Amino acid sequence: MQQTISVQSLSLGYGESLIIKELDLDIPKGEITVFVGANGCGKSTLLRSVARLLKPVSGAVLLEGKEISSMNSRTMAKKLAILPQSPVSPEGLTVHQLVKHGRYPHQSWLKQWSREDEKKVNQAIQSTGLADLQNHPVNQLSGGQRQRAWIAMTLAQDTDVLLLDEPTTYLDMTHQIEILDLLFELNDQEQRTIVMVLHDLNLACRYAHNIVAIKDGKVFAQGKPEEVINCNMVKDVFDMECQVSTDPLFGTPLCIPHGKGRCLITKREALTVG
Ligand SMILES: Nc1ncnc2c1ncn2[C@@H]1O[C@H](COP(=O)(O)OP(=O)(O)O)[C@@H](O)[C@H]1O
Ligand SMILES: [Mg+2]
Repeated sequence: MQQTISVQSLSLGYGESLIIKELDLDIPKGEITVFVGANGCGKSTLLRSVARLLKPVSGAVLLEGKEISSMNSRTMAKKLAILPQSPVSPEGLTVHQLVKHGRYPHQSWLKQWSREDEKKVNQAIQSTGLADLQNHPVNQLSGGQRQRAWIAMTLAQDTDVLLLDEPTTYLDMTHQIEILDLLFELNDQEQRTIVMVLHDLNLACRYAHNIVAIKDGKVFAQGKPEEVINCNMVKDVFDMECQVSTDPLFGTPLCIPHGKGRCLITKREALTVG
């Protein structure tokens, strides 16, 4: 397996508390990898550290075999883009201006704004369905539109590796699928490596080649969705009872959570009567 990112014995934390503990992980090149795990288990912490936004307590992250701690910022930003969880944009910045920020690593005093930059910005705006909103201030958009504007900025950076922290949060069902389809296409047609955090296990199973389940600061399980997702894993990682069936459209694992549900009483009565 060719890997793009190699995480080696990585420990991460804030102050005294260690969140990620000597974690080892290889992220396959040209695939879609999805991190899953309970709230607060350290998915964002890990993703941020892979993008060098958080310094490790110990251990290393290698990008294409090179330690990121020794890489020049511009070189790194040409290879890897990150969409953090809940980003905040400056007051008054329009969608078009925000997306343009994605092109900064490609510019220098020798190479100012180019046609190529304009093309990439327009492509990113089109593919996220923001053409009609491009002159609107980002902070006046709905949560879903704002999320798409940030995704567009990340796409405009035009990197081989894309890290996205909960890219579908705030999006309605249609836009969730649209964004995941778009990421799938970028992977399928341009072999971009995509690493993202998703909460919806069933969508994770549809789109991921590789799922990484995180628990107690370590990788609990990693592999193809059908190798990783089962009742025991969901119980161990999310502390939730569920039934795992097969997605009728895609054949991927389909996790059906237990819980009370509106029909429970009727169902219980039916069982007693029957
Ligand atoms: N900036 C920070 N300062 C201190 N603690 C933090 C900070 N960011 C996250 N944490 C803590 O680290 C743990 C992991 O957080 P996070 O990586 O955001 O989890 P996840 O993304 O899996 O929900 C949580 O307990 C959280 O409270
Ligand atoms: Mg998070």
